[in-house]
Amino acid sequence: MTFDTSACSRPHTFFHRQGVELWCENVPLSRIAQEVERTTYIYSRAQIETNFMAYQSALADVPHQVCYAMKANSTVGILQILAKLGAGVDTVSGGEIARALRAGFTPHKIVYSGVGKTRKEIAYALKQGIGCFNVESEPELERINEIAQSLGLRAPISIRCNPDVDPKTHPYISTGLKNNKFGIPIAHAETIYLRAANMPGIEIKGIDAHIGSQIIDTQPYLDSVTRLIDTMDRLKARGLVLSHIDIGGGLGIQYRPEDVPPTPQTLLQPIKALLKARGFGDIKLLVEPGRSIVGNAGVLMTQVQYIKYGDTRNFCIVEGGMNDLIRPALYSAWMDIVPVVERHDIEPLVMDVVGPVCESSDFLGRARELAVKANDWLAVLDAGAYGASMACHYNSRVLPMEILVDGDQVIPLRDPETYEHLIQGERFLDL
Ligand code: LLP
Repeated sequence: MTFDTSACSRPHTFFHRQGVELWCENVPLSRIAQEVERTTYIYSRAQIETNFMAYQSALADVPHQVCYAMKANSTVGILQILAKLGAGVDTVSGGEIARALRAGFTPHKIVYSGVGKTRKEIAYALKQGIGCFNVESEPELERINEIAQSLGLRAPISIRCNPDVDPKTHPYISTGLKNNKFGIPIAHAETIYLRAANMPGIEIKGIDAHIGSQIIDTQPYLDSVTRLIDTMDRLKARGLVLSHIDIGGGLGIQYRPEDVPPTPQTLLQPIKALLKARGFGDIKLLVEPGRSIVGNAGVLMTQVQYIKYGDTRNFCIVEGGMNDLIRPALYSAWMDIVPVVERHDIEPLVMDVVGPVCESSDFLGRARELAVKANDWLAVLDAGAYGASMACHYNSRVLPMEILVDGDQVIPLRDPETYEHLIQGERFLDL
């Protein structure tokens, strides 16, 4: 089938326009709208699999493990798809590890990052037999060593290095600069590795860096990997040979036509070449992509409630708000918004697309030209990553529904929440 992607501006995605209708794989979104009657994330299974396989084939010629960064989308059904394809997973909390295990990931393919691992989380991860702790500070290393010894285990670790590289992305999602809280300054890494080598509860596995997110330039990765290789060289000279290098995640996606990120192939080719040229061609290469696996595989579909004409601005008020999709409010992120069914019977109007939440930052898009009426449905594109996983109940709003499309099948990934869910787990006072 050839898809006319002009109306949703994304080539090669499984969301496509046929006539006036926006489809996901073989299902028109308007059909789902009629069934769900609520704000809903819709995911394409084929797109998730295609995105994951792009990493697998880019790495097919070297020892590797693709560890999906599940913070991008941790819905169990989505995790199951990736676990079934043999993915590993990058986690950042005990809760994520538990979720990953429930979804079928094998423990040794779990890596565990994060600056604030608690004692409970470390003990839990050790007991589950995870593959690697990405250690973010010296006190954390000491804590892991102590807990592993008390459990009679050895903790597999890599040191997350902060390479002080500018990924040229939004400051809130840069993580590899020296003023960020993440990782250990790379200049200190060697000393800490040598200390770790003498800790009885520690088993050194690899080295790690993650420099940020929505990166659309290859150079920052090459700079970061060069610094990791320099460290590996120094460690090798001291007799410490590492078995893996984890270059983190962060590859961007195309939110706007001018964002042209490299493909996994174009990103990883020069990295593999660099490793080979520096004598590390056989080392296992780990990557931790999140957004580039699920981002363009999901849209948020929401219904227009009112069109409100103002003196200086017009508003398209939709059911979905910042609690459903926080990226525009939090990072001023641009996300394309298109009608689910295009209409040609009215003139388009420039409007702010806003939600019902009582905050002025509650918008999904500013100054968008749209031909829509109340009760029409809109789709926010490229919402598969950091959408549902960042949703919350603020304003006592039920969570958005989530649906997977697989060919012509429409599969709910959760129960639609009711008002009863909103107070689940809370205790009433005996007044
Ligand atoms: N590995 C680590 C250690 C990370 O902290 C992250 C993301 C990733 C991998 C995956 O990065 P990705 O491939 O998805 O770019 N909420 C923000 C993004 C926060 C990213 C946090 N860390 C957003 O909506 O843009």
